[in-house]
Amino acid sequence: MQRFKIIGTGSFLPDNVVTNDELAKTVDTSDEWIRERTGIGARRYALEGATSDLAAEAVRRACDDAGMAASELDALIVGTCTPDTLFPSTACWAQGKLGIQGMPAFDVMAACTSWMYGIKVAADMIAGNPSLKIAVCGAETFSRILDFEDRRTCVLFGDGAGATILTGTQEDTGLLASNWGSDGNLASILGVPGGGSAKPSTHATVDAREHFVYMEGGKVFKHAVTAMSSGVLKALADANLTADDVDVLLPHQANKRIMNACLDRTHIDASRVFSVIEKYGNISAASIPVALDEARKAGALVDGHKLAVTAFGGGLTWGSGVIQM
Ligand SMILES: CC(C)(COP(=O)(O)OP(=O)(O)OC[C@H]1O[C@@H](n2cnc3c(N)ncnc32)[C@H](O)[C@@H]1OP(=O)(O)O)[C@@H](O)C(=O)NCCC(=O)NCCS
Repeated sequence: MQRFKIIGTGSFLPDNVVTNDELAKTVDTSDEWIRERTGIGARRYALEGATSDLAAEAVRRACDDAGMAASELDALIVGTCTPDTLFPSTACWAQGKLGIQGMPAFDVMAACTSWMYGIKVAADMIAGNPSLKIAVCGAETFSRILDFEDRRTCVLFGDGAGATILTGTQEDTGLLASNWGSDGNLASILGVPGGGSAKPSTHATVDAREHFVYMEGGKVFKHAVTAMSSGVLKALADANLTADDVDVLLPHQANKRIMNACLDRTHIDASRVFSVIEKYGNISAASIPVALDEARKAGALVDGHKLAVTAFGGGLTWGSGVIQM
């Protein structure tokens, strides 16, 4: 077990709501198709600011929730695949916007799995020094990398940020079991091809629309179901728990059908899932911390609960765990 306590959570979703019907005015799609195939009803698009603005606000709110100043943080970890800039990191941009300095601020890039990877890194840091207070934030502005000429991808994603503050504890709370992994042989099936060192930005990469999300949806779907369900089952087995012991399940919220398939395979009761996908769409690294914050604030997740989390994303990457709250 890796002991820590979640002492604060916060989230920030831009005000601008874009419904399926609104998207259907400019994209060849329909509310019916999107709801049926994905469970998404709307998403938020940030009209201004960058990923770090959303991250900074989510961290500020999580610090308020923890009753501490952001300046008391010992580390700021941001998970994102829509960074403000290639470098410096979005965490550093967010640190500046929070008006704090000194503590290490760095990004974790595991696409939609980034928050889960960040939790693993923070748990390891806290194991070495339990006095640390670490913010793990998942933040995305996917609206900036969507190809609105590709209806297979542009309807799926949205913008948002969620943050979680962890610190060491003597209590029996924290990660009861966890696992994480990746398969770089499948790197090409989900990502943004252009703009990095492999394909530097040129007029040709812009003309070929290579700065937008590219996804082979069917393949991603199958890998997501397998990795998420087997990850949860492994974490439960390693913690000597069964599906019935799970009080709340927070799966990465990419597609309602992926979430349902995970429930089928893990035999976790559907009533245990806390879902935000209908209102926010796939907010990638932000999906679990936003759902976690909303579940806590709604009283659906309380101290003493066993929380199962499972994420999956480009890379391909995956990570699952059981957290004793
Ligand atoms: C993207 C996804 C929703 C597509 O669902 P699907 O049931 O596999 O649909 P398909 O891609 O097979 O497309 C079926 C049809 O719907 C059409 N279609 C695709 N997107 C559409 C849209 N937004 N509106 C209307 N029709 C659409 C396709 O063109 C295709 O039409 P055709 O049969 O005439 O060629 C699904 O593959 C998925 O969710 N994948 C995982 C995506 C994901 O979550 N990624 C992030 C993981 S971190």
